[in-house]
Amino acid sequence: MDALQNILNRVSARALIEPHPTESEMNKVFKAALRAPDHAWLRPSSFIQVTGNGIDKLSKIFEEYAKTVPNIKDEIISKYKNAPYRAPMVVILVNSVKEHPKVPEIEQKLSTAASAQNILLSLNALGYSAIWRTGKLAFNPFVASKLNLKANQEILGYIYVGTADGTNKKIPELDIEDFVSYL
Ligand SMILES: Cc1cc2nc3c(=O)[nH]c(=O)nc-3n(C[C@H](O)[C@H](O)[C@H](O)COP(=O)(O)O)c2cc1C
Repeated sequence: MDALQNILNRVSARALIEPHPTESEMNKVFKAALRAPDHAWLRPSSFIQVTGNGIDKLSKIFEEYAKTVPNIKDEIISKYKNAPYRAPMVVILVNSVKEHPKVPEIEQKLSTAASAQNILLSLNALGYSAIWRTGKLAFNPFVASKLNLKANQEILGYIYVGTADGTNKKIPELDIEDFVSYL
């Protein structure tokens, strides 16, 4: 697919079903993720790929977290518990912050955000679909500890991956003049 066309036609899908990408396809996707700009090559981004039993494990972690929230409603516990089943694959975006005299924490997180976009674009190029989600389950120390992350590591988000169920939503036409100025 033409590279620019791939960017222009990428769209997020809320409903994702099988098939999900194969291991060799995901290897390409993660290679692309690791080509995100990365000041001083600190390698702040890593990924946890979740499928099959892993989805059940993630669901249990989300449920355990929900039960730590005071006065949480049963429907919210169910919502968190069911969240990982919204796609056949989830990629957890992990950021590891390193001390560096020239590269502040925000730049390291921006690099992981760029890696997430590379993941979305690579999946689109391979004919799959995805949606990047955060919510209460991202930036969440309880979930991070259950995934054995270290003190300098944080979950920046979740990319839900699969094949779009149904037709894609229409891409809005935006007027470039509303977003760009010239000096
Ligand atoms: C950092 C970040 C966090 C997001 N979190 C959520 C989320 O928790 N739930 C959600 O429905 N969409 C979330 N989105 C938005 C979707 O990923 C998606 O971009 C949005 O639905 C617009 O669709 P589009 O990507 O096709 O333009 C998030 C986007 C970003 C960049």
